[in-house]
Amino acid sequence: MSKLLIGQTLEALADPFEVPPEAAFRHRARGGVLISEGRIAAVDEADALRARASEVVDHGDALILPGFVDAHVHYPQTRIIASWGKRLIDWLESYTFPEEARFGDSAYARAVAGDYLDLALAHGTTTMCSYGTIHPGSVEALFEAADARGMRVLAGKTCMDRNAPEDLRDTALSAYDDSKALLERWHGVGRLGYVITPRFAPTSTPEQLEALGALWAEHPGCLMQTHLSEQVEEIAWVRELYPEARDYLDVYERFGLLGARGVYGHAIHLEPREVDRLAEVGAGLAHCPTSNTFIGSGLMRVAALKARGIGMGLATDTGGGSSFSMLRTMAAAYEVGQLGGTALHPAQLVWLATAGAADVLHLADKIGRLAPGREADLCVLDLASTHAIAQRAARAEDLWQTLFPTLMMGDDRAIARVYVGGEAAEVASGQAQVDDR
Ligand code: GUN
Ligand code: ZN
Repeated sequence: MSKLLIGQTLEALADPFEVPPEAAFRHRARGGVLISEGRIAAVDEADALRARASEVVDHGDALILPGFVDAHVHYPQTRIIASWGKRLIDWLESYTFPEEARFGDSAYARAVAGDYLDLALAHGTTTMCSYGTIHPGSVEALFEAADARGMRVLAGKTCMDRNAPEDLRDTALSAYDDSKALLERWHGVGRLGYVITPRFAPTSTPEQLEALGALWAEHPGCLMQTHLSEQVEEIAWVRELYPEARDYLDVYERFGLLGARGVYGHAIHLEPREVDRLAEVGAGLAHCPTSNTFIGSGLMRVAALKARGIGMGLATDTGGGSSFSMLRTMAAAYEVGQLGGTALHPAQLVWLATAGAADVLHLADKIGRLAPGREADLCVLDLASTHAIAQRAARAEDLWQTLFPTLMMGDDRAIARVYVGGEAAEVASGQAQVDDR
């Protein structure tokens, strides 16, 4: 049983930050993606694949892309997205911590996890790397909801043993034990992966960072995620808390929390030494442009960091980020690039939201590219989903010009279909039932 999807297709050939962007993708105006047993069996001209298909789904002029990969989110912040008026530390204390405290109730965690994944799918996102709360049950809830939907999801228990409310604090030992138990229970089960997750340097004691560094050394195949140099007040605070460290990144390095499987969110106000070290160790960065503007953090220097060969994936940073949509996030990345003097090419935006993010999450052999052998997690984009977009796209002279209005102005209405493991996902449309107990 092979299913053939027909539409426009884009195959990533190289990193568009390293080769001319137009040369980084192969575009087929009438392409086909042949799916067999949940994986991509072939990508070619549609007509060349018809004979091998037992079922054909024709998406017309729509663009078949890999499902979006969101490199950094906090699913427990779903209900507080778009909360007004605070910068990072106040935002955490006013909105985030009170909401995260609710995840001690596993039923609440399950309700939000399911709702979040449905929202992500409705926006074309098929994989994300999420923080939980300090409660192990918050991670279990997301993994169970992902498993029920057949999704490839990465997540970890957020660890904090200081500078957080009493009911949101673990200890160095319990963080180690709980993370280890979750890792042993879930890592590599089905399509799930465990991520060791110290929230950020200010909310961990040196003892906790050391314990999590030890856990990572014992399980080097896992990812480790945390936050780095997001806001100037935060960096000053880190300097006070860790006066012996050379800089923010050095705090992590001292405790064994710097490595190629590390994913560092934000990375806006980096010192030259930190950039050198990130490049040397091959660490990955998550670019969170809607969050960086929404919380007032600053402008990440995407082009300069990519020019140093540093891996980077795009991320919504739900709910510091102000959207669930990777399209909206690409628009923000473009705007932030412009403010920093670089107009990112649409090929670069698509790369950051698919292959770039998959690479940073060390899932390049599984997702993020339309290529044989990859899991068939796909997003089909309607490139004329609204009147505003359609009238602009009608003027386009090539694929990139056709796509760019959707990247700038598109939302969930542009997501014509999502496939998870080769099956059309049931995407909740319109007003979801919100269980807000
Ligand atoms: N730094 C530490 N925790 C968080 C968080 O939840 N969101 C963001 N944007 N930054 C953080
Ligand atoms: Zn974050």
